[in-house]
Amino acid sequence: MSCTIVVGAQWGDEGKGKIIDILARDADIIVRYQGGNNAGHTVVVGEDHFVLHLIPSGILHKGKTCIIGNGVVIDPEALLNEMNMLRKRGVKVDGNILISESAHVILPYHKVIDKRRGAKIGTTGRGIGPCYVDKMARCGIRMADLVNKDALKKKLRANLEDSKEFDFRKIYNVYSIYGRRIKKYLANVSVVLNKAIAKKKRILFEGAQGTLLDIDHGTYPYVTSSSATAGGALTGTGVGPTKIDKVIGVVKAYTTRVGEGPFPTQFETTLLDKIRRKGKEFGATTGRPRRCGWFDAVIAKHACMVNGLSEIAVTKLDVLDEMEKIKICTGYKYKSKTYRDFPADIDILDKCTPVYEEHDGWMENTNSVKKYKALPKNARLYLERLSELLDVKIGMVSVGEKRKQAFRI
Ligand code: GDP
Ligand code: IMO
Ligand code: MG
Repeated sequence: MSCTIVVGAQWGDEGKGKIIDILARDADIIVRYQGGNNAGHTVVVGEDHFVLHLIPSGILHKGKTCIIGNGVVIDPEALLNEMNMLRKRGVKVDGNILISESAHVILPYHKVIDKRRGAKIGTTGRGIGPCYVDKMARCGIRMADLVNKDALKKKLRANLEDSKEFDFRKIYNVYSIYGRRIKKYLANVSVVLNKAIAKKKRILFEGAQGTLLDIDHGTYPYVTSSSATAGGALTGTGVGPTKIDKVIGVVKAYTTRVGEGPFPTQFETTLLDKIRRKGKEFGATTGRPRRCGWFDAVIAKHACMVNGLSEIAVTKLDVLDEMEKIKICTGYKYKSKTYRDFPADIDILDKCTPVYEEHDGWMENTNSVKKYKALPKNARLYLERLSELLDVKIGMVSVGEKRKQAFRI
């Protein structure tokens, strides 16, 4: 591994945190490149569960540099709280974290607007969309402004000029304090990363959300407001495309979605309850129940294409252990036409009938399987079919939430 991007290849929560944690052992630097604390990445170390929202999942390994890139939007309060949570649990933070001076800052008004307007999309309410709106409208406040009193005053005042709802002075005072506390972590991370690449350091780019939540390639408008796909790793860090060696897509052995928006392969209630319970499918950030459904090869194929995936990591195979029959969606039927490629028209996704192929389950516990060959035959056949449909190799399989419950192929 030299420069590897890890992306979610479905609607998020694919188990990126777990896969990053495993790959981080062989990395020097782990960098988040987009999104914000809408992400919830779970890493289980022994009996300890960690949920990381902003800080890269590599932080749980000693001596790794963890970077938050310019493409991330940062809620300073959430960042400081997460650092404190880690410190309290014995994880070394100081000296291990660098934050881009160019990353945009989430302000109280972003959160209020998000809570007011985000219901239709089912956002996490963390202010992510409105913060990216300001970034694109060129009135955003960046980390560099947070530590520059004059810049902060000027920009905040301009943004709140007509506001009766938000008190400039109050926000300025609180955010200046955040600035003072965060200053020591700020750096030109593009320079840091490119120097590290020149020295042959191994870099892991940690994606948040998933391909189908990407602002360009997802189920727009039911998406998040950033580039969750591999291209976002470049613009979100300032590393050029010629430096990237590998792109790994993480997929669950089935599909989940949290928040609003179309989901063609969603289970009916009984199966939904069963898989939700077995897979503990509740949002790591908001605690909302996730919708669950069969593996959708149409969206996964789309993810392979738009990310240029070199390989996939399949997680949560164990959740399907008790299924007698397992389906894979290979197309969408809509108005007498069958779509094999991901359609941009959201109506098709919403109203289509999925085309399924059915496979025999394996009806055996896979939690303690340590190598591919030891998997039940039908589990191997299922994985091989996924690989064939997506035309991509499987590099890793995960059969439980713990570090040891995964193996490379
Ligand atoms: P992320 O956002 O992509 O990092 O994923 P989340 O952490 O939001 O959700 C994935 C959930 O699945 C977490 O609770 C993980 O601990 C859990 N998980 C990851 N891999 C596996 C696996 O192979 N089997 C099982 N049963 N759970 C897993
Ligand atoms: P990780 O990194 C799953 C969803 C929200 C909502 C939509 C927009 O843990 O995979 P936002 O707050 O981003 O404006 O909400 O995107 N969403 C996620 N779903 N996993 C995530 O992150 C998500 N981050 C946002 O539920 O539907
Ligand atoms: Mg998550």
